[in-house]
Amino acid sequence: MSMNQKTILCVVGTRPEAIKMAPVILALKADGRANVRVLATAQHRHLLDQVMSFFGIAPDIDLNIMRPNQTLTELTGRLLLKLDGVLKTEKPAVVLAQGDTTTVMTVALACFYHRIPFGHIEAGLRTGDIHNPFPEEINRIFAGRLARWHFAPTASSCQNLLREGIDPDDVFVTGNTVIDALLMTASKDIAVGIALDETKRLVLVTSHRRENFGEPFQNICRALRTLAQSNADIQILYPVHPNPNVKEIALAMLGSCSNIVLCEPLDYAPFVAAMKRAYLIISDSGGVQEEAPALGKPVLVLREETERPEAVDMGVVKLVGTSYQLIVDEAQRLLDDGVAYRAMARGISPYGDGQAAQRIVAALEEYLA
Ligand code: UD1
Ligand code: UDP
Repeated sequence: MSMNQKTILCVVGTRPEAIKMAPVILALKADGRANVRVLATAQHRHLLDQVMSFFGIAPDIDLNIMRPNQTLTELTGRLLLKLDGVLKTEKPAVVLAQGDTTTVMTVALACFYHRIPFGHIEAGLRTGDIHNPFPEEINRIFAGRLARWHFAPTASSCQNLLREGIDPDDVFVTGNTVIDALLMTASKDIAVGIALDETKRLVLVTSHRRENFGEPFQNICRALRTLAQSNADIQILYPVHPNPNVKEIALAMLGSCSNIVLCEPLDYAPFVAAMKRAYLIISDSGGVQEEAPALGKPVLVLREETERPEAVDMGVVKLVGTSYQLIVDEAQRLLDDGVAYRAMARGISPYGDGQAAQRIVAALEEYLA
């Protein structure tokens, strides 16, 4: 590091942050002008490590914060204290973080206390309901309120920020870096790595939202069981999130269905391969709602609302919530009705063109020069 080189600290905590920060970290490193340091809070442990190793990024600092079944308060408290120490010793000129996790909210707050400018990637997503998704809506509102730069993925996320009074000069519409990551990965010929029945249509499932824990998640599992039992020509592949509130119920309710394959979370490239191979995707994931449309795969979203309205408005993603009957009916319709299916399987990418990371690097020019 040269004397006048500025340090940009890139923070990652969970799997989706690592996927969406990887293109930015790689682009900043390729640019070469800043001293790029990577901080892993490791709010997730192995889910994070899977992604970091796939993109060939080793953290410079690792807080190893994850504990089994961690509570939000405990996680936030421990993170804030540890981040305080990191910012004191690293003294970065800029800190970047992506999304709406507890890691992002606490990093933004710690930066505010240290008066270090914070750049928020994937800024401006809103449902308008502070309880949904929980706690992400509040996390991103706090992060946005504290940010110096807002890297909004779409025009509508930019509008959300302007409505909240953010200075338009501080907002950059960049596209979502998830599409950069997807395009880096989807062209590679990588196998799913799970023995699948080639004669059956693949239905890919993921689910992990906190507001769905308990009865809503049990409804989801019952609906998956019904779909599996009434459609002998499908196979459901469900890589189960390691959160115990999800894992224990999924194994108990779906473990014995012959055409449901439960597996450990897939590495990123095999998961992308599974999305490419899927006929239909059923998910409550944010990232999957962005990736699947770009791959031409219909998504039924297991949520009542979404902060990603673009694909819903275009008719390629549909909200089905957590009602047993609605999930069964909408999935069955896409399995039976070719016209309805083709209307959703169109292959459009409202969330980005693969150049988001380059636009973020360009916006930080004054810190690179
Ligand atoms: C977190 C984020 C959520 C994001 C999701 C992506 C918060 C509050 N939640 O939810 O916004 O959509 O990640 O997946 O920031 N666990 C493991 N191994 C791992 C990861 C998790 O065992 O590699 C288990 C642990 O028991 C951990 C629990 O999952 O305590 C919950 O992890 P946490 O990060 O608190 O919440 P998620 O539900 O994963
Ligand atoms: N993903 C993965 N392996 C899996 C399931 C998902 O690599 O088994 C990827 C997926 O492609 C997407 C991201 O993880 O990019 C989404 O993460 P998650 O659903 O955990 O969080 P969210 O996006 O809802 O915050």
